[in-house]
Amino acid sequence: MSETQMTIFVCGACKAGEDGASRPGERLIEALSTRCGGEGVKIAVQSVDCLAVCKRPATISFAAPGKWTYVIGDIDVDAHVDDVIVAAQAYAESDTGIVAWKQRPAFFRKGVIARVPPL
Ligand code: FES
Repeated sequence: MSETQMTIFVCGACKAGEDGASRPGERLIEALSTRCGGEGVKIAVQSVDCLAVCKRPATISFAAPGKWTYVIGDIDVDAHVDDVIVAAQAYAESDTGIVAWKQRPAFFRKGVIARVPPL
């Protein structure tokens, strides 16, 4: 039975580079899925086609029922995977989804595009 507490949505369509040949979103999905998968998963990773922040690849979102949702851009798949997981764990453990500033890795502090209240 799943113990999922939150989902990291990752745009799999994000492209980078002058010719758009780099696909950081696809690589990020693979890296995060490898690290977050398994029995009793608390952090689910789900690919989405576009988060409408196409000029700031790669783009992710932290979401969970009853919590604020964050949209975060400029994720560097070669540098930020560990920090994304640390931030996701802090998000999962928070009651509201709002992660304290001092708990946010640099990518989170610099990359937040929006936060949206729960329904
Ligand atoms: S292509 Fe990634 S946010 Fe649109």
